[in-house]
Amino acid sequence: MDALVVTGGRRLTGQVKVSGAKNAALPIMAASILADGPLVLKGVPDLRDIRTMGRLLGKLGVSAERKRGGTMVLKSPSRSNRSRAPYEIMKTMRAGICVLGPLMARRGRAEVSLPGGCAIGDRPVDLHLKGLRALGARLEIEHGYIIGSCRRLRGAEMYLGGPFGSSVTGTANVLMAAVLADGTTVIDCAACEPEVQDLARVLEKMGARIAGIGSPRLVVEGVDHLGGCEHTVIPDRIEAGTFLVAGAATRGDVTVEGARWNDLFGLVNTLREVGAEAERCDGAIRVCARRRLRSIDVTTLPFPGFPTDLQAQMMAALTTADGISVVTEKIFPDRFMHVAELGRMGARIRKQASAAVVHGTEQLSGAPVMASDLRASAALVIAALMARGKTTISRVYHLDRGYEHLEKKLRRLGATIRRVNLKS
Ligand code: EPU
Repeated sequence: MDALVVTGGRRLTGQVKVSGAKNAALPIMAASILADGPLVLKGVPDLRDIRTMGRLLGKLGVSAERKRGGTMVLKSPSRSNRSRAPYEIMKTMRAGICVLGPLMARRGRAEVSLPGGCAIGDRPVDLHLKGLRALGARLEIEHGYIIGSCRRLRGAEMYLGGPFGSSVTGTANVLMAAVLADGTTVIDCAACEPEVQDLARVLEKMGARIAGIGSPRLVVEGVDHLGGCEHTVIPDRIEAGTFLVAGAATRGDVTVEGARWNDLFGLVNTLREVGAEAERCDGAIRVCARRRLRSIDVTTLPFPGFPTDLQAQMMAALTTADGISVVTEKIFPDRFMHVAELGRMGARIRKQASAAVVHGTEQLSGAPVMASDLRASAALVIAALMARGKTTISRVYHLDRGYEHLEKKLRRLGATIRRVNLKS
């Protein structure tokens, strides 16, 4: 099993280029089921989750061929009744649920395993089912599978807000079904995340008619047919944000090329409040921190609020800030697996319900730690970069799900980091 060995204490400096967004690419890949022609995607990151989605689509008869330089060509057969998304694949990646909407819209049937449990807490799919049922899909849960059938879906008006706000993949799923439905669909309390916007733009290129992209009210005029198209996936705002936080946390000076200011303003604002300088430069964002960071209260919220996917990384940075910070999680109230591992490195964090109180300490010290999920792993890497001495992070397969060439990119910024194989 691979581990990362980091010797901390060095300021990160220089430029790094962000990859295409995993969470945009995954639903867009699923949208290929809807298209009559090939979908040519550029900027697709080479990640474990992307390969898993490729395998899942393969089970559904879609070919997903990776070409050179981040291009992927996806072709769905014009007629197919393959509709089973098996547990063996679905248990490893939640985004697999995004095939449900396209299967219902295009093939009128689906047998999709409920996606696997995840270390970030409870992740229901009731909003996905609510939206698809509003469009006329019959959906039952049997033996761990969502069994769906329908004739042509019908446009409908629906409210997709849940106890924690909108749902990103829920909106994606319902949107992908509504574009081929008969008539008008209104999705209220739709997710506004840049990844949902990117999916909507691809669907438009395929011939879909969608108004309100980027707003919480999407209005879709169903069409009879969608064709192929070419699209470049947006840059990964969470990867970009991770480098920006790492730059500030190590009191460095890092420029993230490709990072989009409007996608990251919630983070930029937070970095400024902790005392780092953040500026927008020609297609990039630069962060520079000259002194110890200040403490701050951070609350995660749906876009454009501070993203839950950067909560763990920001908490790592706050462990050495001057003063007491409170980090409150409003999207996944149990997403605090990193707290205990950060504690092994000397961080002083007390978890209280859906918040964590962080008492800033002068310095962390390297320790053996274990990655528990994707973003918690990124937080451990940031903590390791800040810490005195050596940190070994095991179970890095979590990181490989979502960060392309992480060690290489960090090394270019001056980090001392290498991958080793721990014989287990
Ligand atoms: N929720 C419901 N019912 C539903 C769906 C969601 O109550 O039917 C709740 C969830 O339990 C959560 C909140 O709504 O409390 C938001 O969940 P959402 O559905 O938006 O999350 P998701 O679509 O499953 C995506 C990303 C996550 C990211 C969240 C929030 C993908 C593939 N995943 O998940 O990314 O944290 O949105 O922004 O797009 C990651 O990349 O590490 C990751 C976990």
